[in-house]
Amino acid sequence: MRNPFGRIPLKALAIAVPTICLSLACLTGIPGLPPFADRPVIGRIDPTVFPRNFMWGAASSAHQVEGNDVHSDWWAWEQAGRVRSGQPSGLATDHWNRYEEDLDRLVALNLNTYRFSLNWARLYPQPGMSQPDPDAVARYDAMFAAMAARKIRPMVTLHHFSMPAWLTDQDRWGSGQAIEDFKKLTQFAVDRWKGDVDWWITVNEPEVFAFHGWSRGVFPPGKLDFPLSLRVLANLMKAHAEAYHIIKDHDDVDADGDGSPAEVGIAHLVVPFEPYNPWNPIEATIATAISTFSNAFWFVADRTGIIDLRLPFGPEIVEEFPLFQGTLDFIGINYYSRQLMRIDPLRGGLVIDQYPGVVRSSLGIEVYPKGLYDSINFVAQFGLPIIVTENGIADETDELRPDYIHDHLAEMSRFMRDRPDVPVLGYVYWSLTDNFEWEKGFTPRFGLYEVNYETLERTMRPSAAAFAEIIAAINNNRD
Ligand code: FCB
Repeated sequence: MRNPFGRIPLKALAIAVPTICLSLACLTGIPGLPPFADRPVIGRIDPTVFPRNFMWGAASSAHQVEGNDVHSDWWAWEQAGRVRSGQPSGLATDHWNRYEEDLDRLVALNLNTYRFSLNWARLYPQPGMSQPDPDAVARYDAMFAAMAARKIRPMVTLHHFSMPAWLTDQDRWGSGQAIEDFKKLTQFAVDRWKGDVDWWITVNEPEVFAFHGWSRGVFPPGKLDFPLSLRVLANLMKAHAEAYHIIKDHDDVDADGDGSPAEVGIAHLVVPFEPYNPWNPIEATIATAISTFSNAFWFVADRTGIIDLRLPFGPEIVEEFPLFQGTLDFIGINYYSRQLMRIDPLRGGLVIDQYPGVVRSSLGIEVYPKGLYDSINFVAQFGLPIIVTENGIADETDELRPDYIHDHLAEMSRFMRDRPDVPVLGYVYWSLTDNFEWEKGFTPRFGLYEVNYETLERTMRPSAAAFAEIIAAINNNRD
């Protein structure tokens, strides 16, 4: 998980935000319960709440797994030595050539859904192409056929961070020209693959993309221009709205037989921001303000048709854009952890902090399953079906992942029991295999399968087996 707000000064509050670090808080799990291995498979997960067609999935994105993504802006960024880890993506996991065996791995885990992204840079490697690259199209044709053969439901992300290098070089998101480019990509994808895809995600974590690329400088194009990052975000919102209508107008094939040809959503990073000291009204106010903006701005605009990018500090954009109204059929939640806002004069003012003694991933992120309940509960107010489109942990030794998966599923099922009126349609783990974790390179290990980067061999982790057993137990319970 990444924090979109790092290094943005909270000017109006006259408090400097020095470095935003990913945070942690109180101990998780129920004290006194035996460890996962000694519990019955399902543990605290309520198996009765899952409908028969519940989507159990794992996720990836093109640049993180495909390999040899030579036409992408990330590739150029890596070759220029600008990626923070210093590690270029190279062959990644060679998923481009090994997708068949990776799809078998989904089946081996009892998963029925694969969330992945189409590679814009492979489809449109050069500017001005009227038709996409036929080899790339043929490969995706083959991937969709391979999914169908395995009864794996594709959940397709159209824009997951990486892009054609030419598009970034021309800063077409900043200027808004990328909206037309994205419409072209979407139109092609829906015409070509409407018979394969019912679940479309237009954009992954839009504010992370905009802020990391244009105001924090850790993603391409590496700019430090906060007003421009807001403009990029507004343009992404417009691109989403256009894409929504293109998909809804043209996808008339019910590929998975559920009675509906196309469901369109986004994958939104949802982060519960909380005060470190609940009694501190300043921390509470700041936490609520940031939570409200980052977790709700997209969904509020979906209701009102007004793009309202007003943070509690700095420049803002407020613009009527009625085409945006009602352009979500579901909300995808990417949930990793919460963040605790703390006023600490010794560290220069407002920081994101962690409570001592909590369980953390290898990236130092707090393991906080209750936050998934809170996140689903938060977005439930917008009255749309919900899918957990990402949830996962960097954990090389796999010591934490079994409990991580169990405890998050337990929280999700608790929500489903408490609120049967809110459709929660799926849970997608990030990620199927270890992969290229953007600016952090190959060090973080999020995979259900471990990847040996010398041989590209994949090995199932014990947590993956446990996850598969949970799904089997839930299915058996229902049958
Ligand atoms: C999410 C991104 C995904 C991956 C995970 C760990 O924010 O969507 O690509 O990097 O974090």
